[in-house]
Amino acid sequence: MGFCCCFKSYNVRDEPPEEEADIGGNKLASQINNVSIESDTLKLRSVAEVILRMGKGNNSARVFAFDELSTATKNFKVECLLGEGGFGKVYKGYLVDKDQDIAVKQLQRNGSQGNREFLVEVLMLSLLHHPNLVNLIGYCADGDQRILVYEYMPLGSLEDHLLHLSPCMKPLDWTTRMRIAEGAAKGLEYLHDTANPPVIYRDLKASNILLDKDYNPKLSDFGLAKVGPIGDKSHVSTRVMGTYGYCAPEYALTGQLTKMSDVYSFGVVLLEIITGRRAIDALRPSNEQNLVHWAKPLFKDKKRFVEMADPLLKGKYPIKGLYQAIAIAAMCLQEQASSRPLASDIVTALEYLAIPSNNPFQVSKREKHAAKEIGEGGKLQSQDERTRNTLRCKEDNIERV
Ligand SMILES: Nc1ncnc2c1ncn2[C@@H]1O[C@H](COP(=O)(O)OP(=O)(O)OP(=O)(O)O)[C@@H](O)[C@H]1O
Ligand SMILES: [Mg+2]
Repeated sequence: MGFCCCFKSYNVRDEPPEEEADIGGNKLASQINNVSIESDTLKLRSVAEVILRMGKGNNSARVFAFDELSTATKNFKVECLLGEGGFGKVYKGYLVDKDQDIAVKQLQRNGSQGNREFLVEVLMLSLLHHPNLVNLIGYCADGDQRILVYEYMPLGSLEDHLLHLSPCMKPLDWTTRMRIAEGAAKGLEYLHDTANPPVIYRDLKASNILLDKDYNPKLSDFGLAKVGPIGDKSHVSTRVMGTYGYCAPEYALTGQLTKMSDVYSFGVVLLEIITGRRAIDALRPSNEQNLVHWAKPLFKDKKRFVEMADPLLKGKYPIKGLYQAIAIAAMCLQEQASSRPLASDIVTALEYLAIPSNNPFQVSKREKHAAKEIGEGGKLQSQDERTRNTLRCKEDNIERV
């Protein structure tokens, strides 16, 4: 469960009218943004019907009966509990017919906001598919039940490995951290650049990055996501929602949501990955409780960059890689939204940092040899060169942060 206090609030009717998100006859986008179905309406019309109508047959999600999910989770037994968030409890389950482990998330609060998040999640995840987005297997909307069924992610969330580390868990090494950041950035790039119309995620944080058995990251929780902006619009107007500590300052102030708000949240997550510190940590001294406020003066002083590295890394990181990762985080966290990098730029930079051969603490002889061969072929070199140049520009800009 997220440690940070959320400032999610639940009166959808207060939301200002959405801007038109209808392009090329595609009404679905605007319908998703305008899901404001109140509980009364939902009682009259089945949720499955609404989902099918809005998804217009694009929907690959399976509809489960409540009994099927009860059986799969041994009657929602406490031993099956994986965690709990603002939406409700998450249980591990098993589908006998598919011989498949699942994660079952049961909505625990009533009201229109819960229903809205449930519908948006089902619609978004039915339409969007990428290796770095969690896969929605199906849902259950029997009576008052609102349950989401996902692929089971055996290693839990990034938060569990970074910030909730139990004594028996091994801290993440540097290359795994960079690979997780790279995968999360690829998920974001897909939402911003490939999805059409684009999607603003709005809830990027460590607890929403789930890990498969090989530490491949997948973004989860799309209940707050927004479609747009569309055409020449630069933002979507919406009520401010998200998680305190991850939210871009201009979005918190104006409610104007852009892709750059997600880039800011990504910067906070990257800073958590580098430092092993929480976005907000009430247990630290007052000047260190807000991670971004603590980091900003350090961004200006390269000599102090090593102070930012997670002590659990025990110095096992490439110093240049650390500098470059901090440079990327600093760029994402710029006050001026237009100065932040695009998700695609972040992917390019992190692809380079996630190559094990760029971490001397992890290189095996075989990898060194392979890297040399690719380098000689020119492919890696040119990528290397391009990334170095991007990062050099970014590092020069750090002084402005
Ligand atoms: N698909 C999944 N596979 C395995 N574990 C999961 C899965 N989805 C969620 N979890 C576990 O359940 C926990 C709770 O997840 P949930 O998304 O409900 O809340 P959260 O992200 O911690 O908080 P918030 O509600 O503020 O977003 C996660 O931290 C994770 O450990
Ligand atoms: Mg979550």
